[in-house]
Amino acid sequence: MSKRIFLVKLSDFPANNRAVFNVEGHSILVIRVPDGFRAVANRCPHLGLPLAGGKVEGDTITCPFHNSQFRLSTGENLDWVRGLAGIPLPNWSRRLLLMGKRPAPLATYPVVVEDDNLYVEI
Ligand code: FES
Repeated sequence: MSKRIFLVKLSDFPANNRAVFNVEGHSILVIRVPDGFRAVANRCPHLGLPLAGGKVEGDTITCPFHNSQFRLSTGENLDWVRGLAGIPLPNWSRRLLLMGKRPAPLATYPVVVEDDNLYVEI
């Protein structure tokens, strides 16, 4: 059974439209998108590095380390280890960077907005 955890007042949400919250031991990245908010694990399934600095385009976030891409709404893995720090790499380099890790989805969390309050359900 999930628990609803208060994160922040909407009026206090950062102007850059993203924030990281530590919720009961989970580092959760919350991003404001045009139709609301998305909450995902702030931990890339590739090597566990933080996604908070990743580029967001529409419903997609790109890991800032090796460019894996995930759908923010579902966590679906869209592309896996395609580069290094934003620079695309040829296939032979990509295979080296995989380090034995298979494509995996990103954990997502439901977000609830009530009045001026933002909650996440874990
Ligand atoms: S840590 Fe994110 S793609 Fe490698």
